[in-house]
Amino acid sequence: MGSKVGEFRKKLKIVDVKGGPNEGLDRVGLMIVVAGWVRTLRAQSSVTFIEVNDGSCLSNMQCVMTSDAEGYDQVKSGLITTGASIWIQGNVVPSQGSKQKVELKVNKIVLVGKSDPSYPIQKKRVSREFLRTKAHLRPRTNTFGAVARVRNALAYATHKFFQENGFIWISSPIITASDCEGAGEQFCVTTLIPSSREAAESPVDAIPKTKDGLIDWSQDFFEKPAFLTVSGQLNAETYATALSNVYTFGPTFRAENSNTSRHLAEFWMIEPELAFADLKDDMACATAYLQLYSCMQVRYILDNCKEDMDFFNTWIEKGIIDRLSTVAERDFVQLSYTDAIELLIKAKKKFEFLVKWGCDLQSEHERYLTEEAFGGCPVIVSDYPKEIKAFYMRQNDDGRTVAAMDMLVPRIGELIGGSQREERLEYLEGRLDELKLNRDSYWWYLDLRHYGSVPHAGFGLGFERLVQFATGVENIRDAIPFPRTPGSVEF
Ligand code: 4AD
Ligand code: MG
Repeated sequence: MGSKVGEFRKKLKIVDVKGGPNEGLDRVGLMIVVAGWVRTLRAQSSVTFIEVNDGSCLSNMQCVMTSDAEGYDQVKSGLITTGASIWIQGNVVPSQGSKQKVELKVNKIVLVGKSDPSYPIQKKRVSREFLRTKAHLRPRTNTFGAVARVRNALAYATHKFFQENGFIWISSPIITASDCEGAGEQFCVTTLIPSSREAAESPVDAIPKTKDGLIDWSQDFFEKPAFLTVSGQLNAETYATALSNVYTFGPTFRAENSNTSRHLAEFWMIEPELAFADLKDDMACATAYLQLYSCMQVRYILDNCKEDMDFFNTWIEKGIIDRLSTVAERDFVQLSYTDAIELLIKAKKKFEFLVKWGCDLQSEHERYLTEEAFGGCPVIVSDYPKEIKAFYMRQNDDGRTVAAMDMLVPRIGELIGGSQREERLEYLEGRLDELKLNRDSYWWYLDLRHYGSVPHAGFGLGFERLVQFATGVENIRDAIPFPRTPGSVEF
């Protein structure tokens, strides 16, 4: 009884045919199969042109068909329309048209799944706002297909950078009991409120209470309050103080009610953590990552996603390829928060938010620094006032600033936030007390300072902001497949 599992074989994709240097001419004469979705269908008196896309690249395969092809009746009867999935077998031939080098002369066509005429992604251009309401179908458009491929290339390059530089990838937990940033922007994870179907009908009284009328967390799943993580950093620090250099790359969550083009409630973060390292090492690492990356990216993308990047360059942000090349070539600027404030105060520009020492930099300030003051070059601002930064950052000798750094880039503002961590137990405990954070709940984090503490540093890079930066898409909601924002969790 039983039989052997079949061998897995990579299937030929449109990119394999058209993606090479001679755009498919080397395949002329071959019989191939293309399986994908119909982008357009044009029937002329003697021939029908079907543009098919399989998502492997921006290009469609132009399939040319005459009435002698097997399955032609399905075309004739109007069954094959935009959005339908089809299977086509044909011969690669040189194309008559100027838009492509090769096309497919169809021998056989099979309709796999027909598409109702109500299919919302027709050829005419539609707004990104509209497409967000069709997030399940938008990957079938040029823009979202290209964003998905470039996002994939960026994730691959991220792992490649850290792996080649001796970092070990670790998974930090998604459910946590601690608030890394101390900002109280966490989503609660609980079974005290019934899940799914019953949730809509559950009475408030069903939540167990203590004698004092407070929520009785001891009856909850984890027997205490638990949340979705805002950052994997604290856990990454534990592994850095054992494996030296580590990084996390995973989803993080913030219940910030900010409806901006740079904020999501669920986003991916890359968080390297370096042991035996200070703030300078941290900035050097962040710079190397982004530069090498831009370099690699420009090169990698021009080699691998050239078509997608040309598309962004033409349709999404003119000059984006040049901008990325600039990032790869120019030296990044580094200046202190204090100097940045002075520069902003002297700037001949009216800001909406007042600038003075001690205030947090707003997006308009960040963008002024990188776009105008330093002409499009990424800027690292360091040594912020301790009042506006998290508890774990190392205190500087001046007593009022901490060893923090933010990397600001054109169009986005803050792309990276990082710091040297406070490795001195008494300082860290003092800071927790000052901020009225409960020492007991950070016991394991404090233990790292009890047992073989070392200077260490790290940073967090918002992956969707990087995707925005690399593709030019204006809104962060278009840089992730299914954006989660206030009031929006469809799909
Ligand atoms: O500056 P943040 O809050 O730093 C941390 O979480 C540290 N624990 C990181 C570390 O040192 N390991 O966040 C880091 C980055 C920001 O610079 C930004 O790019 C991104 O995460 N980010 C967001 N991206 C999208 N939506 C949001 N709501 C984001 N909040 C932060
Ligand atoms: Mg930050």
